[in-house]
Amino acid sequence: MDHATAKQHARKILDNAARLSGQDTLELLSQHVAKNYGLLSQDPIVAAEGAWLQTRSGKRIFDGVAAYSAANLGHGHPLVKETLKLFLDSNAPTVLGRFLPDPWLALFGQKVTAMTGFERFLPANGGVEGPEAAIKLARRWAHKVKGVQGTPEILYADHCFHGRTLTVTQMFDTDEKAAIEGFGPWPAGFKRVAYDDLAAMEAAMTPDTAAILVEPIQGEGGVNVPKPGYLRGLCELGRKHNLLVMFDEVQTGWARTGELFCWMHEGEAARPDVMCIGKSVSGGFAPVGGILASARLMDLLGPGSHGSTFGGCPISSAIAVAALTAIEQEGLVEQAREKGAWVMDRLRAMAKDAPRIKQVRGKGMMFGIELTPQGHDGHWFSERLLQRGAILKDTHHWVLRFTPPIVASKADLEFALNVLEQEFVGQAAVQAK
Ligand SMILES: Cc1ncc(COP(=O)(O)O)c(C=O)c1O
Repeated sequence: MDHATAKQHARKILDNAARLSGQDTLELLSQHVAKNYGLLSQDPIVAAEGAWLQTRSGKRIFDGVAAYSAANLGHGHPLVKETLKLFLDSNAPTVLGRFLPDPWLALFGQKVTAMTGFERFLPANGGVEGPEAAIKLARRWAHKVKGVQGTPEILYADHCFHGRTLTVTQMFDTDEKAAIEGFGPWPAGFKRVAYDDLAAMEAAMTPDTAAILVEPIQGEGGVNVPKPGYLRGLCELGRKHNLLVMFDEVQTGWARTGELFCWMHEGEAARPDVMCIGKSVSGGFAPVGGILASARLMDLLGPGSHGSTFGGCPISSAIAVAALTAIEQEGLVEQAREKGAWVMDRLRAMAKDAPRIKQVRGKGMMFGIELTPQGHDGHWFSERLLQRGAILKDTHHWVLRFTPPIVASKADLEFALNVLEQEFVGQAAVQAK
């Protein structure tokens, strides 16, 4: 196809999306797309910039979940956008077989290891491939290095979320029927342990334990923040019992909690053996993720042991290098610390006058607003808040998750705080009780 014809077709494709009415969008989604997600709104999102989304009907909405922390840099960060445009105009290959040397992956690997302090990076597509790869690596280590003869066991935490592949689906709480029902049998070799309980974790360990897999703060589980020292304690247990400690930083990573990674709040002694990354590693522009580890560990995965066609492909790698550069240049960690403390003060002050707010918890720019467990639930409030112009997503029935783009200005954040105040304080709150 020549360039001019391609341009015409491209214009048509974009025009089709731009012209699709709200009703038609909903009908096409309903007819042709699997119904594995419920919709919070009937008004399609057609544009996004920074902390704001724009709907088909022309409404501006504050993105208070930042696409589950995939948009820590906000939507459409200019540095990533410009890099992507130049990349496409340069005739660089968007995808390559991994049997060919790829300069963009080389630079991505260099950047992500320099920023995190790990020696090796295994690229993947999106978040769940991180825990999957981590589990494979832990099992290989258990068989080949630790000398486990039976089934190497992975310990995971109550209320965790590591994604939706078959291996990790069994980790959902047993009352999460929609997530688990009808998907068994489950792969063997996994044991559930209480979260934020070092004694329970140690008691669950056996000579066959290969690894612990834990989120430094549980996001989906309701923004559960463990006691200070928990992550360091897990690492100490790992060393004591000769097993791997694996932190899933897919949601807590890339400045979300006020450190580049959440374990860093507890210093080098809390550095895990394996770290899973995802979401904002691409600034929200592409599904990119992976795991980081020492050379000693990662080199257990030689040619043929693991892989993916698109993992670390040139276009993903170029996007990721741009996003990581933006995270540094924006001073995202400092922004999360400073604005996070300010928002937390405001939320806690508001909670005093809000009869339905039981507790506000979190770290950096990751907040959970727990509601009293009677009356309308979190989902009902999510819908109301969206009508008022801000997305705060319910999780575990009684918790509203507030994880706005870290680059959101104080005026933007003020808007979201006002929406919350209108809903939970004063007349509206009385009606909603
Ligand atoms: C801690 C954690 N791990 C893994 C995942 C899975 O990521 P993805 O949906 O990109 O596969 C998520 C997604 O929310 C997550 O929060």
